[in-house]
Amino acid sequence: MIDVYTAMTLDGDSPVPLYFQIQSCLMKAIDNGTLMPGNKLPSERELAAKLAVNRLTVRQAMSELVNEGFLTRKRGLGTFVARPKVEQGLSKLTSFTEDMRKRGLRPAARLIALEVQGADKKMAQSLRIGLGEAVIVIERLRLADEEPMALEISHLPAGRFPAFLTLRTEVSQGSLYDIVRDRYNVTLCAAVETLEAKVASAREAALLEMPSGMPVLLRERVTFDQNGIPVEYARSLYRSDRYKFMVEVGQ
Ligand code: GLP
Repeated sequence: MIDVYTAMTLDGDSPVPLYFQIQSCLMKAIDNGTLMPGNKLPSERELAAKLAVNRLTVRQAMSELVNEGFLTRKRGLGTFVARPKVEQGLSKLTSFTEDMRKRGLRPAARLIALEVQGADKKMAQSLRIGLGEAVIVIERLRLADEEPMALEISHLPAGRFPAFLTLRTEVSQGSLYDIVRDRYNVTLCAAVETLEAKVASAREAALLEMPSGMPVLLRERVTFDQNGIPVEYARSLYRSDRYKFMVEVGQ
């Protein structure tokens, strides 16, 4: 275990609350590399004893850093320094695989469902097909260096992607956008997206390995081919402690 105490000097006479001082010391240690992603912190009890403060003070400091995504709690294991959030631009049409590789992370997917369903209203509207028409539904948990990052459901119009269900192995191992391009000759040219916050359901939280009730970022995308025809309607739920989105604005 690394020695965090040398980085922590608290001033009991300062008007700055003690929990805030603890937070600042921890943040400084993360910024200057004394604390590195993956390092384990001492327990709340130990920190409180060593710093001669109330345990609740330590808890308050740590909880805020957990909520802000700088620390992460692993049940039964303790509190660790989190990896920096993935900063994701919103202005380029890229795939999860590309995004992770660009950051030096290893992308992977766990296939949860691959099936054909009749289009509901939202799918039909997004893909501009008739209600009840066949839609391929692909649900995957997306991982980076084995850590869950996002839960994605992609919907493709089945008529455009014949025999897609036979590609189960490829879908579970590779990039959907590569399959669409290489197997079906479909070029993805543009997308319209929305981004909103929502609370993870119990199922979503369990799959994403996060406490239920935590916020997630819901990103919906309708992707178009070169003729402006919709080929994918996707709902991606990103862990809010692992992601932040970035948009460039101009005049
Ligand atoms: C992003 C998009 C999804 C898309 C996915 C394809 O995550 N939000 O809409 O389905 O990329 O990624 P890949 O080609 O790695 O399967």
